Amino acid sequence: MNFFELRTGELFAEGCTVQTLAETYGTPLYIYSRSALETAYQAYAHALGDDGMICYAVKANSNIAVLNVLARMGAGFDIVSKGELQRVLAAGGDPRRVVFSGLGKTRDELLFALQSGVHCINLESAAELEALAEVCLEHGFKAKVSLRVNPDVDAKTHPYISTGLKENKFGIDILQAPAVYRRASSFEQIEVVGIDCHIGSQLTETRPFLDAIDRLLVLIDQLAEDGISIQHLDLGGGLGVRYQDETPPTPAAYIQAIKQHLGERKLKLIFEPGRSIAANAGILVSKVEYLKPSEHKNFAIIDAAMNDMIRPSLYSAWMDLQPVKPRSDVDSKLWDAVGPVCETGDFLAKDRQLALAAGDYLALFGAGAYGFTMASNYNSRGRAAEVMVDGDSSHLIRQREDFEDMIRGEQLLP
Ligand code: LLP
Repeated sequence: MNFFELRTGELFAEGCTVQTLAETYGTPLYIYSRSALETAYQAYAHALGDDGMICYAVKANSNIAVLNVLARMGAGFDIVSKGELQRVLAAGGDPRRVVFSGLGKTRDELLFALQSGVHCINLESAAELEALAEVCLEHGFKAKVSLRVNPDVDAKTHPYISTGLKENKFGIDILQAPAVYRRASSFEQIEVVGIDCHIGSQLTETRPFLDAIDRLLVLIDQLAEDGISIQHLDLGGGLGVRYQDETPPTPAAYIQAIKQHLGERKLKLIFEPGRSIAANAGILVSKVEYLKPSEHKNFAIIDAAMNDMIRPSLYSAWMDLQPVKPRSDVDSKLWDAVGPVCETGDFLAKDRQLALAAGDYLALFGAGAYGFTMASNYNSRGRAAEVMVDGDSSHLIRQREDFEDMIRGEQLLP
């Protein structure tokens, strides 16, 4: 089902017209659909059943209203910082359903996670294990851990979002993992519960995940011989979505394939999907400020920029850009939609056939994941407002940043 669609000649977000939302809240504006978030989460949860946990990757979209919608449905969360854990708690998430990933957790962050009672800490190095053991000893905690293993498989995705190759900084080399596991189980204050990996993002095939599983299963059997029993297998996130013409498996097909591959193994499963829950639950709406056609290139100068959405600039990501109210009274042309930021790389879309006039609103699709969370104040631009639609109502879930927000904490010299 599509929660953002053209009806009666204009774009709707659930039961709200996007034009009205843009006029009411201003642009640039992120609009999220509650139903889209719920539907995407449920697809995962139903497919998994009682065999584990779906821990939404907070980094994809961390607005507390988004987290709250998911928490209400019983979602778990994958976090990578104290700040993300604080967001989960502020949103009413259950810390016992939180897994803590990330390769540079500080002692302060580890302590906060232990005090909050998270489900599991996903360790990414032998050094981090030592730090955690010290924190536990000093503060009287026992920590449940999983080791993030780098299985050295090619996720066949963009090099910047591929994470499971041995030249990537993530995880513990699979050959070193047995020694780190033995060390972990030698500590009284550490309980080994799992194994995890995350091989990359925007994967459009199941095969690399299955290859990673095969390598982890060999390791699990090896550990069993050493008397170390693994209760859960956490496959990370990474399932792709359709931005253009990609055909990733559905969450249900993906989970089914994994369950089938695991056969009779009695392992709880954890997934950490981010993009596949949030991306297509959001759009970024901008206004065409000026049109600058020329013989060589036609530029549509819009009020959203790379500071609002960096994916096209950073990964050359293609994201669909469409008018909120398609018009037929002007000729369509090839346009580059560029922002006002002083960088040649500041564009949201290139060479798109569009019929445009100044003042029109445009919607960038697939913007619900890695959009607002990667936004910055570059060029002293306040970050965009965020709105969630729920049927025919809309709620402001983050106000647009103003100048005061931007200079908060800055000081003049005495
Ligand atoms: N778990 C871990 C340990 C991760 O590092 C990530 C994403 C996820 C889960 C969620 O992965 P997802 O299901 O969203 O693919 N900014 C990039 C994506 C970076 C992903 C980083 N890690 C983009 O906009 O394409």
